[in-house]
Amino acid sequence: MAFLQNRIAASVIAGIIVLAVVTAIATDTFDERKDLRMRAAAASGGDPSRGEAMFIQYGCGSCHGVKHVRKAVGAVGPPLDGVAVRAMIAGRLDNTPANLQAWIRDPQHISPGTAMPDLDVGEQDARDITAFLYTRAE
Ligand code: HEC
Repeated sequence: MAFLQNRIAASVIAGIIVLAVVTAIATDTFDERKDLRMRAAAASGGDPSRGEAMFIQYGCGSCHGVKHVRKAVGAVGPPLDGVAVRAMIAGRLDNTPANLQAWIRDPQHISPGTAMPDLDVGEQDARDITAFLYTRAE
């Protein structure tokens, strides 16, 4: 009987430890994401949440895949996961917030004849989309 009780106690303790570890990992991941969003917002001066909505609204996802973003399953342009840590934009520009905004607003001017069309993206919209894209580090 005592043996069985010890077994049960051990299982309960093991369960509590597993729960604590899972909670710690989940909290950590959440903090990391929040941190990334704050850094992306600071670097670009934009709002990543609004940027995600604008990304969907302008139909960027019809050409670009982005994980966990609704309708972003296109395969005409490169996937934009990891764009935050890429060195170059479209093989033309250094990857800075100002250059990314310029690219989003005016790709045909920067790279005449590129398959990415000018979509008449407004200045604030481009800034917010830039903030959103800078949350995509992997
Ligand atoms: C009709 C398809 C199409 C649409 C719509 C489109 N793009 Fe693109 N995009 C492309 C293609 C093709 C490239 C590659 C261009 C090149 O390298 O010359 C590209 C390149 C890019 C790049 C550079 C990626 C890299 O790794 O160098 C970014 C960032 C980008 N697009 C963002 C956007 C955003 C934001 C929108 C919406 C406002 C958008 N695109 C809409 C086709 C599209």
